[in-house]
Amino acid sequence: MRYNIHKISWTDVLSYSLASICIYCAIRAIYNLYYHPLSHFPGPSAFGTTRLPYVYHQVTGNLAATFHNLHEKYGPIVRTAPNELSFNQPDALNKIYNEQHSGCPVFPKNYDSFNETRNQISKSVFIAGDADHARMRKVINQAFSEQALRDQEPRIQDHVQSLMQQVDAEARKNAGVVDLNAWYNFAAFDMIADAALGEPFNTLKRLTYRPWINMIGKTWKAISLASAVKSMAPPVYLLRRLIPTGIFLQKEVNKFDLVLNRVKEKIAMGTGRIDLLSRVLACNDRKERMTEDEIVSNATLFVAAGTETVTTLLSALTYLITKDSRVMAKLATEIRSSFSDERSITIQNVSRLQYLTACIREALRRFPPIPEGLPRIVPPSGEWISGHWIPGGTFVQISTLATNLSISNFEAPEAFIPERWLDDKDNATCFRNDKKVASQPFSIGPRNCVGQNIAMAEMRLVMARLLWSFDLQGVVQEDWMDQPTYLLWEKKPLPIRLTRCR
Ligand code: HEM
Repeated sequence: MRYNIHKISWTDVLSYSLASICIYCAIRAIYNLYYHPLSHFPGPSAFGTTRLPYVYHQVTGNLAATFHNLHEKYGPIVRTAPNELSFNQPDALNKIYNEQHSGCPVFPKNYDSFNETRNQISKSVFIAGDADHARMRKVINQAFSEQALRDQEPRIQDHVQSLMQQVDAEARKNAGVVDLNAWYNFAAFDMIADAALGEPFNTLKRLTYRPWINMIGKTWKAISLASAVKSMAPPVYLLRRLIPTGIFLQKEVNKFDLVLNRVKEKIAMGTGRIDLLSRVLACNDRKERMTEDEIVSNATLFVAAGTETVTTLLSALTYLITKDSRVMAKLATEIRSSFSDERSITIQNVSRLQYLTACIREALRRFPPIPEGLPRIVPPSGEWISGHWIPGGTFVQISTLATNLSISNFEAPEAFIPERWLDDKDNATCFRNDKKVASQPFSIGPRNCVGQNIAMAEMRLVMARLLWSFDLQGVVQEDWMDQPTYLLWEKKPLPIRLTRCR
């Protein structure tokens, strides 16, 4: 039989191509479901067959809640994509994020998934490979010392003072009701931008940069959406290459230029005021030098990482205490009875308030600011995790929300009970089976949160100052915590009635 090549039409080519893609996908799906090395792990068939359900939940902002539901149904290990497993037990936490393994220091991060937007944090520690990460973290850790935090206190206090004045004025204008989520957002940005860059943007006092701050949350969403698309199978990935990057919110990411340019100006001016950036510059005069690009990237990351996370926690904690009059009364009593005047509410003094710290830890457990897992890759030689042999190249993660809300880790996991974090005898008995180590909102290991001390200081200070001056009351019935996630939570307004109590 002889074919005449000239007689094959474009329609034929298209049909054969589509048929080949369908056959490829079908074979791949059967392999994934029945013959893949992870096929014996529990999980819904759809998730094991293709990555589509994972990506669907990621782009619809439903990933953290879905993983929680999957763990409830399938137990401590769930196959969440053909090549991916999710865990929710603390022994896996240590293994995935902290332990040394033969031939590699820790499980490497899935760098690619965050690098897609080629944004200004793409040369920072957040994305860097292990060797560069270790070099940069050495410098950055020194800049974030206890002494550095103490040096920043006057600036942080100034912004907390502004926050109190602004919410007070706003409450007077609006019959007492204030959207605290928005004000926390401005305060978190002002605090970290000033402490990190020595740049008092003063968004609490001025309107200028407020629209720009809304963009920070969108940037994380952009990174999440772009990584979702990139993680798809190769044919779809190729398609994505044809789509202009703007569609993936690149323009939102580019607006980071505001911070970026300030950092560049500061570097050009040299170290002046003592802030975290100038400390990085001072510590950088060693063997582990960071390039100027890396310094700029990291300084931008400090602002991006330190704004949304702190805002989330403050809003969640405010929401949770306004829902529980017992906790609210106990917390207000602790704060109001511990100080003789407002000036003694300092970073050091608030760190001694045990119930406030317990409330923050419980809010971090109940509504972790980074609720999704942080994927890592099992080294080529494979590893044991939670008693299971996991082949090299598998993506693994601890699903933070699923871990924190698992009945196998915490008594009454959905409830907000700060007492579980206190050491007194009654609580120790009630919550003796809680696996406290499972709640790691700042992650663990060499890539844990570099800003956790400053975050804790800011959160304690803001809550203590707010409850020192005001009674708080929620004004809407809807569940504020029911909201989508794109790496971080997409936060709703949080209207709260403020009544001056002194
Ligand atoms: C409640 C507040 C915060 C929470 C819950 C939080 C949580 C986290 C988590 C879970 C990570 C690990 C991410 C990963 O493995 O991919 C991280 C990393 C990081 N955080 Fe935070 N964070 C908070 C506040 C801050 C603040 C205020 C800063 C300010 C400097 C900051 C700076 C960073 C940086 C620079 C990293 C990257 C560290 C590295 O890769 O070595 N964070 N954070």
